[in-house]
Amino acid sequence: CGIVGYVGAENAVEIIVDSLKKLEYRGYDSAGVTILNSDLETYKTVGKISELEKIIPVDFTGHIGIGHTRWATHGKPDTKNAHPHLSSNIAVVHNGIIENYMHLKEKLLTQGYEFLSETDTEVIAHLLHRTMKEDAKLSLLDAVRHIMTEMEGSYAVAVLCTDEPEHIVLARKDSPLVIGLGDHGYYAASDVTAFLRYTRNAVYVNDKELVLISPAGVKFYNNDGQQIEKQIDTIEWNEEAAEKAGYEHFMLKEIHEQPTSIQDTYAGKIFELEGKVILDELKMDEDQLRSLQRVTIIACGTSWNAGCVGKYLFERLAGIHTDIETASEFRYGEPVLCGQVFTLAITQSGETADTLAAIRSSRSYGCKAAAITNVVGSTITRETDSVLFTRAGPEIGVAATKTFTAQLIVLYLMAIHMGTVRGRLSPETAREILVGIKQLPGQVQKILNNKDAIKACAEHYANVQDYFFIGRHLNYPVSLEGALKLKEISYIHAEGYAAGELKHGPLALLSSETPVVAIATKGHTYDKVLSNIKEVKARSAEVIAVANQSDTEIDKYVDTVLRIPDCHELLAPVLSSVVLQLLAYYTAYARGCSIDKPRNLAKSVTVE
Ligand code: G6P
Repeated sequence: CGIVGYVGAENAVEIIVDSLKKLEYRGYDSAGVTILNSDLETYKTVGKISELEKIIPVDFTGHIGIGHTRWATHGKPDTKNAHPHLSSNIAVVHNGIIENYMHLKEKLLTQGYEFLSETDTEVIAHLLHRTMKEDAKLSLLDAVRHIMTEMEGSYAVAVLCTDEPEHIVLARKDSPLVIGLGDHGYYAASDVTAFLRYTRNAVYVNDKELVLISPAGVKFYNNDGQQIEKQIDTIEWNEEAAEKAGYEHFMLKEIHEQPTSIQDTYAGKIFELEGKVILDELKMDEDQLRSLQRVTIIACGTSWNAGCVGKYLFERLAGIHTDIETASEFRYGEPVLCGQVFTLAITQSGETADTLAAIRSSRSYGCKAAAITNVVGSTITRETDSVLFTRAGPEIGVAATKTFTAQLIVLYLMAIHMGTVRGRLSPETAREILVGIKQLPGQVQKILNNKDAIKACAEHYANVQDYFFIGRHLNYPVSLEGALKLKEISYIHAEGYAAGELKHGPLALLSSETPVVAIATKGHTYDKVLSNIKEVKARSAEVIAVANQSDTEIDKYVDTVLRIPDCHELLAPVLSSVVLQLLAYYTAYARGCSIDKPRNLAKSVTVE
């Protein structure tokens, strides 16, 4: 999502609409604007900003307002869920996720508040209204500060209140917020792209800081309500670079967003002290989960590779026989299915034609169906009984990165939930993995901080014709995904192989010209992979190993080691995948390829 705000001498409506257009790449399923004249006047609609423009009257003007372009996380993309959300004389736009919103909503309902939307954001508006009603002397700024102690999760919010018509109050925690200082007014936005046309002077707001912008100027406050001084930065980027937050490609930006997208995906679902996952979205009660005989996962491309990891997890942690099916094959196959089989579609876009057709076909056998998708309101969400969302935000690079790791997170949560309910997984083991999941964002960040070694390796091998990727067990699908990423964007022929299968064919192709990436993270197949590495070395091929930080043994056998932090054996696929995404990215970069839009490929394939 993207939020914007403006106070100043110019027409706020025009500036807000124009700024929202610049943020459309952050999400575009609905949009809205509120202007504070003597009252709050709001226009909102489903669809892109151009749709919003169509419903705004030509004579709608003002000098203070807020706006929003939405990427749905709670509630489908429709007008009532579009921001701003109002509570009588208060209007709020929000980017982020209020994790405890259900709890807050229940309290507000008992206090007589009525909810018009399904969003977590509406809670913020009512909380503010209630807080200001309870203490009439409280300023809007203090009321926002006050409710920040009640809200868990992430937010960048902008608030208008008719009692204080001269300013906008803003606050942030774990969601970006930047303030623009112009000659004709002050701007607030989720990123600088929104207001670069108007000013290059910007102040980045830090976590738990608050801001008050009025025609007279900008004031910043810390969490205790004390005014603070902030540094003004001059933004050198052009608009295109700013959209990518200064990264050269969307893909690189999206790779770097993974600490956040992973965290957003598990937020509010992990209760590690109790060794428990809460997955209300999975509409299956405990009896149904206990009696489940079989899961059939259906997907395409990168989502299929995630599904392949899911198969291992469901079998190991939940003891459920799991098949993984390629959607385009499944739809014309003759599957043996019955009502006891649970089908799970994995699709980032929720629109892949083959996956939709396959899931429809499975339902004709009476199977219960669920979906993992990144797009609220996508077709798959209407075709399945349960929907589990990855909260990765829009992914623009054609090659999937952050949506893949977010899919893995949902699969871990599902496997742990099912395993616990079915009595297969002890709370202690569940706790161990859940604690490990919570460490992933920091561990991914470590890999990103040390990406130079991966870049150097990519450049060294950038001119080869063929690449092989090998792994066993959970690392087998990681090798498939590593090969897929590389071929998609660098156009180097790459194959992912089960390491034990090398001797049944591919060994014939190995030579000093074919680097082999061995995913050799610690686990029960580690020694077997070491043997496979030796087989490869004996054919003069060079080996790049992806291995754990503390593994010093591996250095003896391979040419290059790319490290991931030590982690739970089952969680290594998340970390190894980030390494392989960077390897593919820097290889494609060195070869001068069109990284965000590779030839012949589309982000979402809605035809057969
Ligand atoms: C296209 C994309 C891939 C993606 C696949 C499945 O081929 O280029 O990156 O993995 O579709 O897409 P889905 O939206 O169903 O996950």
